[in-house]
Amino acid sequence: MDLELGGKSVVICGGARGIGRACAEAFVREGARVAIFDWNADLLAEARQAMGHDILAVQVDVSDAASVDAAHAQAIETFGAIDVGFNNAGINSPPRAIEDTSEEDWDRVINVNLKGIWLCTRAQVRHMRPRNRGSIINTTSNVAFTGAPGFAAYVAAKHGIVGITRTVALELAKTEVRINAIAPGTVRTSLGGEMRKFVDPFADALIRKGLPIGRFGEPSEVADAVLWLASPRSSFALGSTLVIDGGFTAQ
Ligand SMILES: NC(=O)c1ccc[n+]([C@@H]2O[C@H](COP(=O)([O-])OP(=O)(O)OC[C@H]3O[C@@H](n4cnc5c(N)ncnc54)[C@H](O)[C@@H]3O)[C@@H](O)[C@H]2O)c1
Repeated sequence: MDLELGGKSVVICGGARGIGRACAEAFVREGARVAIFDWNADLLAEARQAMGHDILAVQVDVSDAASVDAAHAQAIETFGAIDVGFNNAGINSPPRAIEDTSEEDWDRVINVNLKGIWLCTRAQVRHMRPRNRGSIINTTSNVAFTGAPGFAAYVAAKHGIVGITRTVALELAKTEVRINAIAPGTVRTSLGGEMRKFVDPFADALIRKGLPIGRFGEPSEVADAVLWLASPRSSFALGSTLVIDGGFTAQ
């Protein structure tokens, strides 16, 4: 299948490692021009070194409006336009029961995982709507459809991303700008590993409940879905959330 991504300009927020990095590599293989936005300067430098200097690497904090807007302006100036926005930056927090969760922990997770999605989506829609073209993909999680004891802020943010994605899809429905989301399950990345090992009772519960497919996912398996949603091949997908979780939420 020709994804028609050659020459397209792609911005990947949280693109320096894990799922974002696998997507950056996959877009490059399709001939796209890629900008990776990430707050970790060391990871950015390493990614740029590994992927070649055609990559635009910008240090961005997705929870900060000025930083997000400036990075998008830089990508537009460099590439001439942004065709695809992949909003994927995310963090977790140590698991805590709701009564022990601090305001600081709550704000940190919500600001990166939810406000960050809103700020990046806003910057992209401001650019794409007047051009009447573009595809935006937001990363949520399969916990957008379940609970996860100890992770209220993370789960709330991921539920919220489904709502933002649906709402913006309806706002854009009559335009040629589409927005969708992906909901990965447990994928073999640093963040996925942290989530699993954080607290044994929770990790054990997850493992006991079991992944029907019998293994964790690979970042490249998520990337294939992101590329499809970015491509005109998914032209009838609007406001959807594609679950890629080895059957976990099918149980
Ligand atoms: N790995 C999993 O099992 C899993 C499952 C479901 C959902 N997800 C989601 O997938 C996304 C990617 O996760 P991953 O597993 O690849 O994690 P990861 O930690 O490997 O990568 C996340 C990237 O986001 C960057 N980042 C974090 N906060 C940022 C900020 N404020 N501004 C800019 N960049 C920031 C990090 O530096 C890192 O490069 C996240 O939104 C995560 O919640 C992951």
